Amino acid sequence: MRYTALVVSGLTDTGGRRRAARHADGSSVAGNGAGDFDGALSVIVGGNQGIGAAIGLALAAAGSRLVIIGRDEGRLAEAKKAAEEVGTDVVATQVADISSVDSIHAMVERVLADHGAPTILVNSAGGLVRKPAFDVTVEDWDWLMETHLRGTFFTCQGFGRAMAAEGYGKIINMSSTWASTFLPGRIVYATAKAGLGHMTEGLAVEWAPLGIRVNAIAPTTTTTPRVERAIEADANLQRTAVSKIPLGRLATPDDIVGAALYLASPVSDFVTGHTLYVDGGWRVSK
Ligand SMILES: NC(=O)c1ccc[n+]([C@@H]2O[C@H](COP(=O)([O-])OP(=O)(O)OC[C@H]3O[C@@H](n4cnc5c(N)ncnc54)[C@H](OP(=O)(O)O)[C@@H]3O)[C@@H](O)[C@H]2O)c1
Repeated sequence: MRYTALVVSGLTDTGGRRRAARHADGSSVAGNGAGDFDGALSVIVGGNQGIGAAIGLALAAAGSRLVIIGRDEGRLAEAKKAAEEVGTDVVATQVADISSVDSIHAMVERVLADHGAPTILVNSAGGLVRKPAFDVTVEDWDWLMETHLRGTFFTCQGFGRAMAAEGYGKIINMSSTWASTFLPGRIVYATAKAGLGHMTEGLAVEWAPLGIRVNAIAPTTTTTPRVERAIEADANLQRTAVSKIPLGRLATPDDIVGAALYLASPVSDFVTGHTLYVDGGWRVSK
């Protein structure tokens, strides 16, 4: 193994900034969390904002080299600057639109040429269409399927080949609680995330002999800046979600970061094909 890992909760605050990992009594965990991913290369697709950015910052703070992928160059530059403030090694960005397979192929080729095979791939790109089923258009359907399903698959395929050649890799796909629960108005998104879950299981089985672990995280509503803006516009969104969550609050980006660090590190090397629900108990309470 090219890196050691003991990553405990508390590595980041909600902005993803470096913070010493601490035991419950407040004492510092050995190494302060920094350096735990030394030698790893993490590629974060959809890493220039939201959940992907928080995961990327935590991995950079823990010593991983980082490549951040997204479409918006301005946000990529901001994410790179933030990662350079907490990380100690190479932080690069690459523009790609994963709804285009040509763009994925070009991005994978470039990343492999510049940095080599990733140890960790996080697929966090995506968006949401909130509409009643009768109002869904072909464009809505295609956009969500092309991004969440086709885009994630061909990104996994591209980097998976390089991981297979190394005999090791950790892939984390971002699913959603909607993969197995439902509220009206999310039909295409929920369908795509359910498909993503099964795709994760299938790739895990097929690539286990190659040393590649493929898992997913299924967050409930998570207070990223985008979601906070949506809640400001419609307070019902928060009320409805919280009323379904036994732990009584929405997820924070830090909740998702903790799950991602676990699945990215060798401590979870015997876990594959798993979807880790970070949902305060919503799924099991239905
Ligand atoms: N936040 C939640 O409540 C929540 C709950 C459950 C699941 N999720 C899932 O978690 C993931 C991240 O969500 P988020 O809330 O962090 O979203 P977000 O803040 O909107 O960020 C989405 C990220 O994906 C990138 N992206 C979107 N479309 C892309 C494309 N076609 N090609 C390349 N990059 C693309 C965006 O960058 P550019 O715009 O620059 O491309 C951005 O970095 C998504 O898969 C989402 O479905 C979120």
